[in-house]
Amino acid sequence: MPRRLKSCNPVPVRWRKELQRVLITDAQIARRVEVLSKQIQRDFKGRELVIVAVLNGTIMFLADLIRCLSLPLRLDFVAVSSYGLGTESGQLVFTKELRLDVRGRDVLLVDDILDTGRTLHRVLGKIRELSPRRIKTCVLLEKADRRVEKVTADYIGFSIPDLFVVGYGPDFAERYRNLPFIGVLHPHLYSLPTTPTLPPPLTSAG
Ligand code: IMP
Ligand code: MG
Repeated sequence: MPRRLKSCNPVPVRWRKELQRVLITDAQIARRVEVLSKQIQRDFKGRELVIVAVLNGTIMFLADLIRCLSLPLRLDFVAVSSYGLGTESGQLVFTKELRLDVRGRDVLLVDDILDTGRTLHRVLGKIRELSPRRIKTCVLLEKADRRVEKVTADYIGFSIPDLFVVGYGPDFAERYRNLPFIGVLHPHLYSLPTTPTLPPPLTSAG
């Protein structure tokens, strides 16, 4: 079970007012990660895994998951960015490509949140072109009601309602990733009206 350092990460004062509530505690996450890792270990027994993690939102989940896995594995990363504003996914482009050869290999694709499914669908399509032996998908969170692409995850940490969440990897504007729990952000922070005359900037989807 991932070790939790109880006092190492209190919420910075500046962020306290920006968080509405804790949705999933660090203890709940730790217990769930342990269960997921056992399932993955059982399913990939006797195989060497290639874990492909989507940057940047997977950092904490990935670190906890892989230290629970007693399997030989190699690790690689991809990154995708979307052209779009705020919390909506736009056109997806790869900003970091896969480096390891996955042909004939067992791949576990790890992402932080399965939301519309566009990210997982795009990354899965790319990996499938490289002819792995099999691909399974693992996400920390899924928002079932938001799916646009027909994509499911084989291993799911928690199914959550349609809320914008941060912490334990997931961010808003690159903030809050270091929180040890998953929290709900105050909607007023991300529902500010945008200026339609400005071109959309390149924002990280991770
Ligand atoms: P998609 O809509 O399934 O393509 O998800 C795109 C990406 O958006 C996910 O990998 C997350 O990094 C990010 N995302 C989706 N929902 C949230 C959220 O509630 N908080 C932070 N990031 C999110
Ligand atoms: Mg992501």
